[in-house]
Amino acid sequence: MKITKICCIGAGYVGGPTMAVIAQKCPDIQVTVVDLNADRIAAWNDKNVDAIPIYEPGLSAVVAEARGRNLFFSTDVEKAIDEAQLIFISVNTPTKTYGKGKGMAADLKYIELCARQIAQVAKDNKIVVEKSTLPVRTAEAIKNILDHTGNGVQFQILSNPEFLAEGTAVEDLLHPDRILIGGDTTPDGQEAIQSLVDVYANWVPSDKILTTNVWSSELSKLTANAFLAQRISSINALSELCEKTGADVTEVARAIGMDSRIGSKFLKSSVGFGGSCFQKDILNLVYIAKSYGLNEVADYWEQVIIMNDHQKRRFSAKIVQTLYNTVASKKIAFLGWAFKKDTNDTRESAAIYVADDLINEQAQIAVYDPKVPAAKVLADLDYLETRTPESNAQSVASFGTPYEACAGAHAIAVLTEWDEFTTYDWQKIYDGMQKPAFIFDGRNLLHRSEMEAIGFVYHGIGA
Ligand code: NAD
Ligand code: UGA
Repeated sequence: MKITKICCIGAGYVGGPTMAVIAQKCPDIQVTVVDLNADRIAAWNDKNVDAIPIYEPGLSAVVAEARGRNLFFSTDVEKAIDEAQLIFISVNTPTKTYGKGKGMAADLKYIELCARQIAQVAKDNKIVVEKSTLPVRTAEAIKNILDHTGNGVQFQILSNPEFLAEGTAVEDLLHPDRILIGGDTTPDGQEAIQSLVDVYANWVPSDKILTTNVWSSELSKLTANAFLAQRISSINALSELCEKTGADVTEVARAIGMDSRIGSKFLKSSVGFGGSCFQKDILNLVYIAKSYGLNEVADYWEQVIIMNDHQKRRFSAKIVQTLYNTVASKKIAFLGWAFKKDTNDTRESAAIYVADDLINEQAQIAVYDPKVPAAKVLADLDYLETRTPESNAQSVASFGTPYEACAGAHAIAVLTEWDEFTTYDWQKIYDGMQKPAFIFDGRNLLHRSEMEAIGFVYHGIGA
């Protein structure tokens, strides 16, 4: 089937950028992105293209090119489903916060709602594509729902997981390492796969488009994230050993990364990985393994999360210990709140957990992040429910410039690797701080020798 109309349910960090690039590259396909969140849709439709709800380098230009031509954002979910031949499900799949599998399993209620809505609305055959990251064998559940509440309409379910990373989403979408499409091995399944291959073939070389069975595709997505996160936990585990032994984790990472079998990427030691997916997807993998009775497999992968939690806690403990075992009433400036640079996303950011620990020690946190608004910082802390929102508001303040955030501070903690942090007038920052002036660089972003030459007491990770 030649696809001319696509619908995507979920206008988030994946749905928005992914569909914008499909629309840009396939001008003959009408792409409608729908969401229940009317504010989000309104922001995607904002006349000022820089006001779109997601900050990603290059994204507003792609949206500006395609929006209104063949890219549309709408809250009319039913109409978009009805009109489309191919429907991407790109809704959130967070960790369950209740009931069986609480804190581990993926919450599939939004996925099920989508499936039921598609079943209700569809009047002709549709291809339904899992774009969200899902537990292996979810396609079976979706198919059951579609087959049992549908009105004689035929559905093909494909798995087409997304591998983009935030901060580089547009680049990753334009030049993906691979596109993975899983589908039924039946002739109808293969035909559905081909329809989606044809969409991507508009800009992705055919040798980068990989087709598999549905279960391999679903599991590969969880596996890819688990392997990536495992590398970070591995290097972070070594960072602690480096600090004890006089080895330097950056040198170790370079030395092992030059072995082509190991490779140099994802070996950057840090205050711990964040983001909406690594933790949730590994917990999900652990839960799936446990549900099959594979306890050793579950324990093996769970260690990646345990190590990451340790790395975050170790960072805040080091700040307290270095500041003479008390941070009570001391101002600690946070440079960065986002979970990585070039995004306004703060989900599971290490900054949240480090701040929470330091507030427990009665510190005053002063935040500067180029893209994260003050309300988001407070909302992230409130979400932990460690203390009342009033109490959080008394302990944390956001500032419009780094100089204000750092003025009078006892210490600076670098939580995000924003490029602009390296360009500041660090002498001016030093002059305005309490002495001794400490820097805890959770990203090894600043140069130790330059900071020490100014007079800072500098602590990086793993050296
Ligand atoms: P998100 O929270 O940014 O966006 C999801 C959107 O879906 C929200 O705007 C929400 O309002 C909407 N939604 C939920 N239920 C709906 C429904 N029934 N009808 C219409 N809209 C509905 O999430 P995200 O970061 O885009 O992630 C989506 C999926 O993609 C997740 O499964 C995630 O694991 C996966 N993923 C994310 C990334 C990433 O970098 N964020 C990368 C690869 C894969
Ligand atoms: C990650 C994967 O890289 C994507 O391929 C995947 O599609 C996505 O998860 C997903 O499924 O959501 P993302 O979380 O957006 O993407 O960003 P990453 O670049 O992977 O960074 C994740 C975290 O690890 C960040 O906090 C980052 O600072 C940290 N990190 C990354 C390190 O601490 N060290 C590194 O060497 C690399």
